Amino acid sequence: MTQQEPVTSSVEDGIALIRIANPPVNALSAAVRGGLKRAAEAAAADPAVRAIVLAAEGKTFIAGADISEFGKPPVPPSLPETIAALESLSKPVVAAINGAALGGGLEVALGCHARVAAPSAKLGLPEVNLGILPGAGGTQRLPRLIGAAPALKIMAEGKPISAKEAQANGLVDEVAEDVVAAAKTLALKLAGGALPAVPKDRTNLGAREAFEEAAAAILKRNPNNPSVEACVDAVRAAFDKPFEEGLAVERAHFTRLRDDPRSAALRHVFFAERAAARIPGLPKGTAARPVQRAAVIGAGTMGGGIAMCFANAGIPVTLIETTEENLQRGLERVEGNYATSVKRGSLAEDAKAKRMGLIEGKVGLEAAAGADLVVEAVFEEMGLKKEIFGKLQEIAKPGAILATNTSYLDVDEIAASTSRPADVLGMHFFSPANVMKLLEVVRGKETAPDALATAMEIGRKLAKVPVVSGVCYGFIGNRMLARRTAMAERLLLEGALPQDVDKALTDFGFRMGPFAMSDLAGIDVSWRIRKAMNLKTAPVADALAEAGRFGQKTKRGFYDYSADGRTGAPDPEVATLIERISAERGISRRAIPQEEILQRLLFPMINEGARILGEGIAARAGDIDTVWLNGYGWPAWTGGPMFYADSVGLPKIVARLREFAAASGDTNLEPAALLLRLAHEGSSFTALDEKAAA
Ligand code: CAA
Repeated sequence: MTQQEPVTSSVEDGIALIRIANPPVNALSAAVRGGLKRAAEAAAADPAVRAIVLAAEGKTFIAGADISEFGKPPVPPSLPETIAALESLSKPVVAAINGAALGGGLEVALGCHARVAAPSAKLGLPEVNLGILPGAGGTQRLPRLIGAAPALKIMAEGKPISAKEAQANGLVDEVAEDVVAAAKTLALKLAGGALPAVPKDRTNLGAREAFEEAAAAILKRNPNNPSVEACVDAVRAAFDKPFEEGLAVERAHFTRLRDDPRSAALRHVFFAERAAARIPGLPKGTAARPVQRAAVIGAGTMGGGIAMCFANAGIPVTLIETTEENLQRGLERVEGNYATSVKRGSLAEDAKAKRMGLIEGKVGLEAAAGADLVVEAVFEEMGLKKEIFGKLQEIAKPGAILATNTSYLDVDEIAASTSRPADVLGMHFFSPANVMKLLEVVRGKETAPDALATAMEIGRKLAKVPVVSGVCYGFIGNRMLARRTAMAERLLLEGALPQDVDKALTDFGFRMGPFAMSDLAGIDVSWRIRKAMNLKTAPVADALAEAGRFGQKTKRGFYDYSADGRTGAPDPEVATLIERISAERGISRRAIPQEEILQRLLFPMINEGARILGEGIAARAGDIDTVWLNGYGWPAWTGGPMFYADSVGLPKIVARLREFAAASGDTNLEPAALLLRLAHEGSSFTALDEKAAA
């Protein structure tokens, strides 16, 4: 075999060492499957081989099936066939798991006779995250190895376990630093004896009742999740059917789910999030600047949350305020947030102390001097931000990144207030900053490539999903949200009630509708902004705020929270108030069907997304999807707004937008030029991204 082959094999001291080298993550492409099967057959036929070790090159063991092959015609051998070839060998096969063994990768290891894992290895069956279930025997072999209830937990949660946990539950036989050496020793020990394959009977499944109890709890936690339901059904088959029939149950679920549009959407999400990390136009080899220490200016809710992100990632951070009093209030809020996590059991007391120890509170901007990255998180006021950036040019170290957490303001104007605009960019966190995964990295016209690369890298270190946005009002996410917000108010005036609008979105898959969200955030927040700007765009929200109905905090807003302070009930008073406003404006109300509500909320956002893409504010449609999936709770199984638009059909969206524009006279609802072009060409946002990537 040549070096280019993804699977190579060499024989030494009676052991065939089969190595997989398929960068970046050793996914089980057709070439890898074919190579593995041939290597297994060659080892079987070679009398010099007494035992086999299966190892992999690079940082991972095998990250699973090659996801990019899904949706294409299958190329033999299939993964189940490949695994069967390994499992049926009469010589022992030991998997040397050097890193992540995920999905099909773990299933390959389960087809081996024994498993040795490195201490840092992660083992898991994350298929549910892709809308499928393990399809190469995982649902039958794992329960028969470690018990049905613990196996179901691993596959239904989709989260990998550590090597230590895998050793404790019997998934791996040994944990060792040098996995290949340990696997060789174990393989020779097994040679000649009875092979310890995963039992094919029910010996290890555990009690049926324990499994059914675990299954009921898991199904309750994951309502209407076809992948989780299929996992339960397949594992149950391990109790009810012989091994081969159990495999057939699993395979039938796998094929059905793989071909379901929801799985295609989740695969799009997987690749879109990874593509978002690639910054178009960045000179090759641009290195990020080192960031040893950060500073956050402003210890409000947002600034405190951002400081927590750095501390959580182990990066020391200075939290800066203007007065001792504000600083103490901010630090107490941070401490309180950590204390809640400790109380909930998600954070250990010593970890809390360590994180608090990484946050140093200081009064005065001068404290930013030691930071490699400064994030400004003060009020949304251009004058104040310019003043701070003007001062920072003197205070901050040469080469320090100067980031603003503005949600709307012009990053180029802020950059122009310093003598070093190349160091300036936006890092737009979402509230609560220590929880939300999205980070919009706003690239100004002067932002240096390495400053941008630094913000993206730091974003990943903070466990965020960073997406680059150009400069515009509201960037990618909030600019699109504004379209939905405006339409939600209009729907109220035309005949819908808050619960009708919210239901359309929760039925679609959002956790919350816009009005429940508004009640949670506080109706007064945007009301004050509209008042300051003399905007009359939200008459219903304004009337509620003027009546002192600020949302959950006053127990009344779009809904009535008097029952328990958290559960909103439809309020007849709100209905009367809305009807009055409609009447005052001469609007005759009508019952609006749910489908129309949904289209009127989503299609204008998609239209704005098309404008954002057309203007180059977002580099890819997939970037827009990534923003909405990670920052606004867009349901992942529809793939995000632009992927969803493709699935609806762009000509249909164009036609509906034209109707909305004609009915309302709102020119914003006229289809965007890019949307029109793609619809006309019979193309799609997905095709546009693919063309750009090629
Ligand atoms: N198939 C194809 N490509 C994959 C892949 C897979 N299973 N896993 C990762 N990649 C690609 C990524 O798209 C990325 O490509 P680009 O650099 O071109 O963007 C590259 O590998 C590196 O991936 P990450 O950026 O995610 O690297 P990481 O170091 O942060 O994480 C990882 C590595 C933990 C393995 C992570 O990639 C991962 O979780 N991968 C997916 C694992 C998975 O879901 N496996 C199950 C597949 S389904 C299956 O196996 C079904 C079955 O039953 C047969």
